[in-house]
Amino acid sequence: MFDLNTEKYDFRYETDEKQLERVGEILRNGGLVAIPTETVYGLAANAFDGEAVKKIFAAKGRPQDNPLIVHINALSQWNELVSDIPENARRLAEAYWPGPLTVILKKSDAIPDEVSAGLDTVAVRMPSHKTAAEIIGAAGVPLAAPSANISGKPSPTTFAHTVNDMDGKIDAIVDGGECDVGVESTVVSLAGDVPVLLRPGGITPEQLTDVLGELEINDAVYNKLAEGTAAASPGMKYMHYSPDAQVIILRGSIEGFCRYINENRCDGDEALCFDGEEKIINMPCLCYGKREDLLTQAHKLFDALREFDRRGTKRVFVRCPDSSGVGLAVFNRLIRAAAFNLIDV
Ligand code: TXA
Ligand code: MG
Repeated sequence: MFDLNTEKYDFRYETDEKQLERVGEILRNGGLVAIPTETVYGLAANAFDGEAVKKIFAAKGRPQDNPLIVHINALSQWNELVSDIPENARRLAEAYWPGPLTVILKKSDAIPDEVSAGLDTVAVRMPSHKTAAEIIGAAGVPLAAPSANISGKPSPTTFAHTVNDMDGKIDAIVDGGECDVGVESTVVSLAGDVPVLLRPGGITPEQLTDVLGELEINDAVYNKLAEGTAAASPGMKYMHYSPDAQVIILRGSIEGFCRYINENRCDGDEALCFDGEEKIINMPCLCYGKREDLLTQAHKLFDALREFDRRGTKRVFVRCPDSSGVGLAVFNRLIRAAAFNLIDV
């Protein structure tokens, strides 16, 4: 099931040779294809083709100063994209590629300005999703790809989300089923003196420290960027992951949560809670996994935020996730969806 302006394709989970060939051809010819990855769906173009990359910004409504991640399917492709690969970058890649990790290094001249948004660095990742790797192979070039959502909306984690945002705007959408991880990759910069975590994701800070020994966590991971400060990662200065509903995070016990909503609830309010809590919360609820199950929370978060949009929910009260391990990625996305509105209850 699928759609595009002029032709109809049917790219299912098991993408066959002919379909892959067609997708590769679209990409080589400067077209845009939405592809599944293990994190979220990406909107891909040939990373060496500045004109093709420009169309990504137009399709998403993405600010021009927000650089893109380049996706590769073999370590040998990395050399051409960066000026040098330091030892700690090699060790990270060996430990966590293919997988949900993006590494920033000084860029080579092969990277068009459209990809790096004028910075002297480039973000690179090797996805583990089989179809993503096959599509990079079929294209024969590295693929620049941001998440395939309309800018500012939650990233798409299913084919249906991707169709919802990109239908009619791009050349093809490949169905790879539900994304396994459900939040975007961990972004770490090795372009400066000390490794810096810019965005938490499927690879945890502990996993990075295991390999790197040292890791600075950029302030923007937890906090709102102060007015006028330059963002280490331009993506962090924009409102992100927001459903139409107003999101409010309530941190504390379930008793505190119930007390707060009983005192403050209005028509059109709903809750995002942990499994089982819907029985005691006195309003319509969606669940996003067990309280201690951080991986399930990551997997379900964006679908839940999009579901509130479908329901026309006005305000969403969210049970605050544990921010250890992968939970840090869930917390980081939620706090942005909530425009940093967190209340201790
Ligand atoms: O999991 C993912 O990373 C997904 C899939 C499709 O691979 N992609 C993704 O891309 O999330 P995007 O564009 O939505 O997020 C990339 C983030 C942005 O916050 C951007 O500012 C940052 O990475 N970024 C990219 N290149 C950078 C660079 N050279 N320096 C600093 N930050 C960079
Ligand atoms: Mg994005």
